[in-house]
Amino acid sequence: MDNVSFGNTGVSVSAMCLGTMMFGDRCDEAESDRVLAQALDGGVNFIDTAAMYGNGKTETLLGRILKGRRDRLFIATKVNHHDPQVIRASLDESLARLQLDHVDLYLLHWPKPAMQPEPMMEALNDVVKAGKARFVGCCNFPAWLLAHFNAIAARHGWARLVCNQIPYNPIERGVEVEVLPQARAERLAITVYRPIVLGLLAGKYIPGQPLPADSRGTTDARITRWLDKYGEGITRFTAFARDRNLEPGQVAVAWLRHNPAITCPIVGVSSARQLAANLKTFDVTLSDADYAAITGMFDTAVKEEAAGSYPPLRRDMTPVAG
Ligand SMILES: NC(=O)c1ccc[n+]([C@@H]2O[C@H](COP(=O)([O-])OP(=O)(O)OC[C@H]3O[C@@H](n4cnc5c(N)ncnc54)[C@H](OP(=O)(O)O)[C@@H]3O)[C@@H](O)[C@H]2O)c1
Repeated sequence: MDNVSFGNTGVSVSAMCLGTMMFGDRCDEAESDRVLAQALDGGVNFIDTAAMYGNGKTETLLGRILKGRRDRLFIATKVNHHDPQVIRASLDESLARLQLDHVDLYLLHWPKPAMQPEPMMEALNDVVKAGKARFVGCCNFPAWLLAHFNAIAARHGWARLVCNQIPYNPIERGVEVEVLPQARAERLAITVYRPIVLGLLAGKYIPGQPLPADSRGTTDARITRWLDKYGEGITRFTAFARDRNLEPGQVAVAWLRHNPAITCPIVGVSSARQLAANLKTFDVTLSDADYAAITGMFDTAVKEEAAGSYPPLRRDMTPVAG
């Protein structure tokens, strides 16, 4: 497992981040413990969780299984509120559940209407000053909003958002416009969730066939919806991977890693068996031709403008030197 620079923090993390959203859900405690042990053995040192996963249950489970392993890990958690007092208090609650004195990264989970950036950034700065989080960041922020929050932080000399965690995969492509170019220019870390589209790019869902019984497809309606909408592309994608003797999920993650703006895919699993397959992904490198073929496979690039030279500018990774 390679290590990568985590944005402009000066810290390195493993090229894979382990997502824990299924811990305590489809992945029981004993299996979560096995997944964590296997991830550590495979060189993974970065894990992602959130206060809202299982309403705190995932962090509580992690608190038990992290024992004796904390020093080897870079740990991120999130808060899904915007009241500055709650931003401070939620981290205390997360730390109590995780049985830790600090996390490495504390993220705002979602932007909401009518946020007040200044007191929010002050609260984030407070948790950094108090040593409860080494770094702060956000998830699901448009580029302009992240720049707006960081301009406020810069004016006050406060801790800045160092990371944006976003959904990105061959089907969900909105961040190619401005979010990824911003990350390149400002050396922000980009961590990517939904790298294999909830399992749709893992080769287990076959368009037109019943959903596998033991899968998120049985409880997550997005899976049926996207299978209907992108079935042809999913079939093409699966065949493309198997023609190259690769698992489809490996190709999905390799596609993300080919993009220089991406710091780490957040690989979510519900079993150690899945993690074993996904760890192999990190030995797979795509040729430029294969990368381009996958990029065009779903016809899902954002097409918000008809023509002219402005649309490509919004995707240009190189308008700023260095
Ligand atoms: N910041 C945010 O707003 C946000 C939002 C969502 C997620 N996240 C983070 O991102 C992580 C990943 O998200 P995600 O779980 O939605 O992404 P995903 O990687 O697209 O989907 C993971 C699912 O794919 C299936 N899978 C994985 N490996 C497989 C394999 N080798 N073979 C067959 N199936 C496989 C499993 O589904 P089954 O359980 O059906 O087997 C697994 O639960 C989460 O754990 C969380 O940490 C963040």
